[in-house]
Amino acid sequence: MRRRSFLKQSAAGLLILPSGIASGRTSPNNKLNLALIGVGGRGMAHFDSVSGENIVALCDVNERNLAAAAKKFPGVKTYHDWRRCLEHEGLDGIVCATTDHTHAPIAIWAMRRGLHVYCEKPLAITVEEARSVRATFLEQQGKLATQVGTQLHGNENFRKVRELIREGVVGELKSVDVWGNREIPKPGYLPAAGEPPEFLHYDLWLGPAPAHPYNPGYFGDFDSAQVPGSNCLNWNMYWDFGAGQVGDMGSHTMDLAWNALDAALPTRISADGEPFHPDVTPVRLRTTFAIPANDWRKEIELRWHQGGAMPEPPTDTALRGIGHGSMYHGTKGTLVCDPGSHVFIPAGTPRDARLSRTGVRGKFSIQEEWIKACKDGGTTSCNFDYASRMIETMLLGLVAYRAGKPVSYDGTKGSTGDATTDALLRRSYREGWPLVG
Ligand SMILES: NC(=O)c1ccc[n+]([C@@H]2O[C@H](COP(=O)([O-])OP(=O)(O)OC[C@H]3O[C@@H](n4cnc5c(N)ncnc54)[C@H](O)[C@@H]3O)[C@@H](O)[C@H]2O)c1
Repeated sequence: MRRRSFLKQSAAGLLILPSGIASGRTSPNNKLNLALIGVGGRGMAHFDSVSGENIVALCDVNERNLAAAAKKFPGVKTYHDWRRCLEHEGLDGIVCATTDHTHAPIAIWAMRRGLHVYCEKPLAITVEEARSVRATFLEQQGKLATQVGTQLHGNENFRKVRELIREGVVGELKSVDVWGNREIPKPGYLPAAGEPPEFLHYDLWLGPAPAHPYNPGYFGDFDSAQVPGSNCLNWNMYWDFGAGQVGDMGSHTMDLAWNALDAALPTRISADGEPFHPDVTPVRLRTTFAIPANDWRKEIELRWHQGGAMPEPPTDTALRGIGHGSMYHGTKGTLVCDPGSHVFIPAGTPRDARLSRTGVRGKFSIQEEWIKACKDGGTTSCNFDYASRMIETMLLGLVAYRAGKPVSYDGTKGSTGDATTDALLRRSYREGWPLVG
């Protein structure tokens, strides 16, 4: 079946097919036809996990990175513009590892073309984007496999922490703190500095973002090797290109708590951070969310601390050495965790007590989980329903920060009830790059 006719029929609710069939896959040997979009930096981390599939298209705005990827996948059709790449005939899915400000548009455009999507974190940089990704995914529910690239989710410790909370190790759960210590201060958008190199399609790099003059500072040093996946630190603090640490390490670190809490969207949000800067997201920030009660716990307070803001430790040394962690406070004590280990600190433990964390071995690959789900229609751990709710919550912290006051939120309507604050839930898109296309 042609993909477009499938979409027409499914939109009309006339046809429901298992995911492998929905994708219109025709390749022999049960292999997926995949496009890799963003093939330098973090994109390279996915090469091995997809190399058993048919890689049929590569896309990058940097021709050098495209040429390097083409050596790994010789003879594959290449693109500079992801809008063209998504039209590649016979595609089943995409792996997206581009800049944060393109994630939601690429994910939405891809799903609307019936494509499975693996997308690097963060899934969105505005609340509207998170909601729009979720709405598009839910329209296709059961037909498309999606995954956000929060690969730590595969750690066995994630399952264990959830189990401990549900077993009541902390007693009645009251509040949760999650924190990250990464600090990347930026002075503001960079001034014009020369022309883009001939191998970089800078206008396509900007894509949906407002025009900004070219400056090599957004790209690091093109000529010297950098740690793959670290270039995002050159651009993700700018409002037009990312969501700062909320989207960066926040996506990974909040995931451990989100997995354990069965959380609905928050109803009240407040924020406290360094003074607002119109160009760059804050380094130091603390956001607080009222997370509604569910069938196994009462309402809880969830707090995110970043860039030097830290929660109160239960003992003097409990948080030492945990750059990115979470802790769960209940009537019986506190469970302190990092992505791979945890320790329970009973209430009343002396301040100077020293308890060591228990490391938890074992992990699964969320990339492999996604590929399997594309083929057999199964579920994925960080699908766009689960992950969009988490990033929507985190982004609401930035909305309260920008509003400069606590905000109420109606997650059903996606509104704070105040037009001025609601304007902070979204951004505008350059002509030709709509969020939903
Ligand atoms: N899951 C993780 O642990 C992890 C680690 C590092 C980075 N990341 C995420 O991966 C993404 C990329 O980060 P990075 O450091 O590799 O950044 P980067 O700037 O190096 O970009 C990655 C690649 O995408 C290309 N690209 C950028 N915009 C594009 C576009 N519009 N169309 C096609 N190609 C485009 C770049 O040229 C580059 O080859 C970010 O969203 C980041 O948050 C995730």
